Amino acid sequence: MSNTENWGSRVGLVLAMAGNAVGLGNFLRFPVQAVQNGGGAFIIPYLVCFLLMGIPLLWVEWAMGRFGGRHGHHSTPFIMHQMDPRRALWKYIGVFGIFTNLAVAAYYCYLESWTLSYIWHSIAGTFIGQSADQVAGFFSTYVDVGVSTTGIPYEAVVFWILCLALNTWILAKGLSGGVEKVAKIGMPLLILFGVILAIRGVTLTAGENGAINDGTVGLNFLWTPDYSAMWSGKVWLAAAGQIFFTLSVGMGTIQCYASYVRKKDDIALNAMSAGWMNEFVEVVLGAAVIIPISIGYLGIDKVVELTKTGGLGLGFKTLPYLFTQWGPVLAAVAGVCWFGLLFFAGVTSSLAMGTPIMGFLKDEFGWKHKNAAWFFGGVVFLLGLPCVFWFSEGVFDEFDYWAGTVSLVVFALFEIILFAWIFGMDKGWNEINAGADIKVPVIFRYIIQYITPLFLIGVFIGSLPAIWEKMNEDVPWQVWVGRVILLSVFFITSWFVYVAYQKRRKQLDTVKP
Ligand code: ALA
Repeated sequence: MSNTENWGSRVGLVLAMAGNAVGLGNFLRFPVQAVQNGGGAFIIPYLVCFLLMGIPLLWVEWAMGRFGGRHGHHSTPFIMHQMDPRRALWKYIGVFGIFTNLAVAAYYCYLESWTLSYIWHSIAGTFIGQSADQVAGFFSTYVDVGVSTTGIPYEAVVFWILCLALNTWILAKGLSGGVEKVAKIGMPLLILFGVILAIRGVTLTAGENGAINDGTVGLNFLWTPDYSAMWSGKVWLAAAGQIFFTLSVGMGTIQCYASYVRKKDDIALNAMSAGWMNEFVEVVLGAAVIIPISIGYLGIDKVVELTKTGGLGLGFKTLPYLFTQWGPVLAAVAGVCWFGLLFFAGVTSSLAMGTPIMGFLKDEFGWKHKNAAWFFGGVVFLLGLPCVFWFSEGVFDEFDYWAGTVSLVVFALFEIILFAWIFGMDKGWNEINAGADIKVPVIFRYIIQYITPLFLIGVFIGSLPAIWEKMNEDVPWQVWVGRVILLSVFFITSWFVYVAYQKRRKQLDTVKP
């Protein structure tokens, strides 16, 4: 059962963790959530959620991970079991930390593959001379199974398989040999591309190449606080959902990455470095590209209208067209920067999604690292098929809803209860502070124990009506197949956990927490 890898360096660990968090959510999801929820009205709930849920959960998950790693566990089922070996329940709750990653990776890698294709089309100058409708139509055709007589969107499938193979190959190279290297190259490049585009976005002036507003109009829209919407439950839920997705909390990836931290190494400062780097990329860079540029050319009302039909529209349907306003060379540069940064953001997150299942298979069934990586690639391919072929029927969005939204909240609620109330806050606080290179403000002890669980209960209860409504929506049968697939993944993973537990029950139950 050798699973004794460690991170190569501290910088590598922080960049990999930041890469796990910084993802497509920062550049595509955040601006859309902000626009849909009133711009300035969104920011305050968002920051409050970051402070009262995001930061505490980061510390909790890092601490759980390092604790688990010390006991030889690298995925949440047995990390959680180790924290309370007396109860059978936790290892099955821990299944969320594998299930969510498989299900999110299924649609996320497809989305990630579009960025590769769009890098290619930006270089090839495909969008030059096209009208706004043609550029938007290009995307619709790209993902449409109906345009090909065989029902296979060939180009999309080729880039998707390429993207899956790339992820699997990097994962097979190991943590320090693959994931860490990609993070060390990808994160600085992503920030560089983001800064270039953000400068372009913010300095945009009305009248320039057909722009109707200065770039600052978009920024003001986002950053002028609107206190009236602070009392809207919908805005709070959207803000909480964004914090979960963007920080990758409630997923099981942070615990897995942290389980490879050496037992005496700091987690308190590392968690903050990665978490704040994510926030910088999201609220500074993520906000300064898509919103100023699209509002600059299209105006606030039109952008609000466009985001109503989902988040992908602006990034793939509108931005490439707006880039062409700058002439062919700058359009290609901007396209490569934009889709390149999206690719690096995506790949450093999807790699993280592969590690929990690999850790589990290696720990519990003695699998070889490479085989575990290819298994992940294979499962994501199979689960991705319905997302690719029933994209228009809404299966992609369905996976995102259940795995990328609801599961995160449910899992986070359970883990904070386990950590603060069952494992115990005394032990938990010691775990967070062991080897710490900063002094964690003591107020967070109380926030973790009382405020975060209450906040999470509030978010969960607040989302029940929406979940109920979702269940009662009229949906195509393909969406139901998608739901059955998701449930099956959960149950099959639980069965694997059961088998693993039976195999070494004695050992698992006797180790002291
Ligand atoms: N945290 C990752 C993102 O923002 C999943 O895309």
